[in-house]
Amino acid sequence: MQTELSNTLGAEYAVFGFTPFPAVAAAISRAGGFGVLGAVRYTAPDELKRDLDWVAAHTDGMPYGLDVVMPAKKVEGVSEADVEAMIPEGHRQFVRDTLARYGVPGLAEGEASGWRITGWMEQVARNQLDVAFDYPIRLLANALGSPPADVVARAHERDVLVAALAGSARHAVKHKEGGIDIVVAQGYEAGGHTGEIASMVLTPEVVDAVDPLPVLAAGGIGSGRQVAAALALGAQGVWLGSLWLTTTEAGLPSPKLVEKLLAAGSGDTVRSRALTGKPARQLRTEWTDAWDDPAGPGALPMPLQGLLVAEAVSRIQKYEVEPLLGTPVGQIVGRMTSERSVQAVFDDLTRGFERAVDRINRIAGRSGT
Ligand SMILES: Cc1cc2nc3c(=O)[nH]c(=O)nc-3n(C[C@H](O)[C@H](O)[C@H](O)COP(=O)(O)O)c2cc1C
Repeated sequence: MQTELSNTLGAEYAVFGFTPFPAVAAAISRAGGFGVLGAVRYTAPDELKRDLDWVAAHTDGMPYGLDVVMPAKKVEGVSEADVEAMIPEGHRQFVRDTLARYGVPGLAEGEASGWRITGWMEQVARNQLDVAFDYPIRLLANALGSPPADVVARAHERDVLVAALAGSARHAVKHKEGGIDIVVAQGYEAGGHTGEIASMVLTPEVVDAVDPLPVLAAGGIGSGRQVAAALALGAQGVWLGSLWLTTTEAGLPSPKLVEKLLAAGSGDTVRSRALTGKPARQLRTEWTDAWDDPAGPGALPMPLQGLLVAEAVSRIQKYEVEPLLGTPVGQIVGRMTSERSVQAVFDDLTRGFERAVDRINRIAGRSGT
């Protein structure tokens, strides 16, 4: 599982792991993959600094990266309060009514909402970068669009490669024109924001469209067989997000959510605008059903929806209100059936990859690997 790209970055395996959890990011890099810490939830620069210090101290010198969310459509010169003021009262009432119907308790007075995603606001992401560039990150990834030219230039000055997620060949070509180094082709099956094209179709399309830029295949990968398939489609590596959620290092604070993830089948996710206002794949719950119901008010566009539901999501998570409890996760959730360490996941990926390659070699009439 080595490619030119994993060699360039100094990782043993061409397995890139996106995760919001520092302990998982570090464990991925230690296991021979390339851990990428998601920064979107860090609104306070010193929190990001604290966690990057921790990652730097726990990667045993192995390479790692950071993922920020800079949407292509910029929200400039607008404060969080301005955005809050744009939320219609009817939508606020819908949130209150839905929470009341399920008896979801409020947060204690003064208790801040833990799930407050403002990292998609360009200024917040830029503050994150000011912190991150002081660390020896090897890769900067951007979700939701091409990173601005000055950010790409800043990264390149520091010898940091830039990746961007794309759900279509058209977006991938735009990224390439923006001067990035790696495209992450994110298929429909993936957890989080996704387009409408499945990985099996998307990966080779993007590989051909941006050639010779390296492409990482994302979406629906959870086994060595699938890694082998992605490399056969022309990818220079794989980018996994969902699989890490049920690793022991992730330590999700909600045991009920872990149970739900372990019990979920591949058909138990939905691509819904309920969480951020843009279609994002997540566990299907009565919360996503309420937002997707044509009889309801429907989700607001990004960034309004994220602000509207932030406190509600925190309450649902804190009190583990089972019917409403969810998380972004992809269709591979159907294969996430036990809690395992990151190292155990890697052992499984490498064994499965070797078996898949042996099988293909047998089919091709060659012996051994
Ligand atoms: C819980 C969760 C949160 C995610 N958040 C982000 C994010 O903030 N930025 C990003 O670039 N991708 C995000 N993603 C997408 C992942 O980077 C990755 O592309 C995706 O999970 C790959 O597909 P898979 O879920 O089938 O492994 C997230 C995915 C999950 C499961």
